[in-house]
Amino acid sequence: MPPLWLIPVQTFSSRLIAWQRQQGRHHLPWQNTRDAYRIWLSEIMLQQTQVTTVIGYFSRFVQRFPTVQALAAAPLTQVLEHWSGLGYYRRAHHLHATAQSVVNDYGGVFPESQESLMTLPGIGRSTAAAITVFAFGHRAAILDGNVRRLLARHHGIEGFTGAPAIEKTLWALAEQLLPRQHLEAYTQGLMDIGAQICTRSKPRCGQCPLRSDCVAYDQNRVHELPTPRSGKAPTRRDFCLLILRRNGRVLLEERANRGIWSGLWSFPECDKSDNLAALIRERWGLTLIAKTAQPEVIHKLTHRTLHITPILATVRGRLDNVTDRDARFFSPPEARARALPTPVRRLLFSAT
Ligand code: ADE
Repeated sequence: MPPLWLIPVQTFSSRLIAWQRQQGRHHLPWQNTRDAYRIWLSEIMLQQTQVTTVIGYFSRFVQRFPTVQALAAAPLTQVLEHWSGLGYYRRAHHLHATAQSVVNDYGGVFPESQESLMTLPGIGRSTAAAITVFAFGHRAAILDGNVRRLLARHHGIEGFTGAPAIEKTLWALAEQLLPRQHLEAYTQGLMDIGAQICTRSKPRCGQCPLRSDCVAYDQNRVHELPTPRSGKAPTRRDFCLLILRRNGRVLLEERANRGIWSGLWSFPECDKSDNLAALIRERWGLTLIAKTAQPEVIHKLTHRTLHITPILATVRGRLDNVTDRDARFFSPPEARARALPTPVRRLLFSAT
């Protein structure tokens, strides 16, 4: 028997559950429902995007696609349009594929177990756990980025939390800490503390219900944990985006279904060394009248940093679609309604 002062007055989970009930979030648009469609959609949106941004997108998305059937039947381009601005578009491609699988393979009803959910595109172990807990009240452990940070601090676990060995330890811990009941409040509590209290910078330890046995807090190492990733810098890619304007309209082309920004609409890419007048004539049968290079724009992706030089060019002539991609001139409002990568959307606002 350990000395009495070493036994926490309440367990990790009971403190978390009590805190969530009193101070956690209870009125997010995907809460207070058992609708697996809404819960799944919110979890996918929340994978790489903050709650405040997701709220607006979520409401517009469910208005346009109120059921998994409506989403499965919609053309991918419309799904991408409603995703436009959220980034990480692979999520939208997976979303559409999962909706079709639920309709075609599961009779339109989401499977309940974590294992079955994990077989669907875009649903990993943690997302599957969140869905099975919130939609079906099952018992499963989540381990998203916020929870990794919280557990690494609380248990004083060193090492990059994405490294396989550390990840394995964290998953085992997440499973061990699970309560027998009240999984919904517990899971939401972990998310809420991770997002609002145990934040990456400026954590609010003074308000944390888990502070009494938090190793990082006790050892004054909250700012050291979790250990940052070391090594591998993102690779750099340099290219130009051609903003071709003709009579107040701008040219966008639909990108191929591979590589970055697949399936989205974009300004065409070119290299700094390209002869623009020749390229514009060859690709679209247009004549270059004037051009100006704009200041470089830097856009960070997960493993790549894009150094983009926008080139504003005025052209004239009739558009010949001689490339294999669909290219069209759009008015600025029409262009904004397309699914656009974030830097293209920003350039569009500044160039038109
Ligand atoms: N982050 C991931 N899932 C979430 C949820 N259901 N509520 C709030 N934040 C989240």
